[in-house]
Amino acid sequence: GKVAVMMGGSAAEREVSLNSGNAVYRALQTQGIDATAIDVTGSPIDALAGRNFDRVFNIIHGRGGEDGVLQAVLATMGLPYTGSGVLASALAMDKLRTKLCWQGAGLPTPRWFLLSGEHDIDTCINALGFPVIVKPAQEGSSIGMSKAHNREELLAALKTASQYRCEVYAEQWIQGQEFTIGVLDGEALPAIRLETPHTFYDFDAKYRANTTQYHCPCGLSPERERELQALALRACQTVGVAGWGRVDAFIDDSGRMQLIEVNTVPGMTDHSLVPMAAKAVGISFEELVWRILETSLA
Ligand code: DAL
Ligand code: MG
Repeated sequence: GKVAVMMGGSAAEREVSLNSGNAVYRALQTQGIDATAIDVTGSPIDALAGRNFDRVFNIIHGRGGEDGVLQAVLATMGLPYTGSGVLASALAMDKLRTKLCWQGAGLPTPRWFLLSGEHDIDTCINALGFPVIVKPAQEGSSIGMSKAHNREELLAALKTASQYRCEVYAEQWIQGQEFTIGVLDGEALPAIRLETPHTFYDFDAKYRANTTQYHCPCGLSPERERELQALALRACQTVGVAGWGRVDAFIDDSGRMQLIEVNTVPGMTDHSLVPMAAKAVGISFEELVWRILETSLA
């Protein structure tokens, strides 16, 4: 049947999504699948109405596409779609409530503090100390994030993150190694270890710089990597992630694994991590796209 590849959207990650979406669209076409690329700029209902699609490959990152809103529309229209359902999408889009969910399940995640305004600054400092990383709770691709080493930087970081019209939280800075673990159809892909000369794996390090190093195999012992993969799967199960996703995590300098967030519509650009991990186990980009599409029928 006919597949709508929904991409773009109007969130801050629009450009990333167009890159991901075009790559997915080309991969479906290469395999002879009847697909239509839809750049969603306004209402997704208008974009789909009367066009006889059989299912949707959703590759819209961020709010409006990854946060349960589109999923609810598609469910209402009776259209099968790739990835997580309404609840898991909404929960995973909110990094802070994802952490609460993990904490409730006894899974490790760095300590955090919700910053409702400047009046919270000193309580936050008392709770977490420095350094911290300040994040908008509902953004992706590291948009709006900054590291703070002192009170002044914390105020500036709060101001930066507050531009994104969602809650802002500070998270204890984890000194250690950074990993990401792709999940496809209930199984973890090999972990990738990321190394960047930037202060953290920010937007530039993700999509623009060629200085980021991606290690896959990640350098952990096989047992440790399996442990990390098992943790990533539990992190997904706890949130209710379905189909595919990607869990970001750290291993701190004393060897403790720490969950950072889960993405329910991970990037599929030529710099992206799930395709890289898939390739490491012999899954081509085309096959990956096909397998993600298949999960829409689950
Ligand atoms: N939020 C970006 C697209 C990612 O997770 O890959
Ligand atoms: Mg994200």
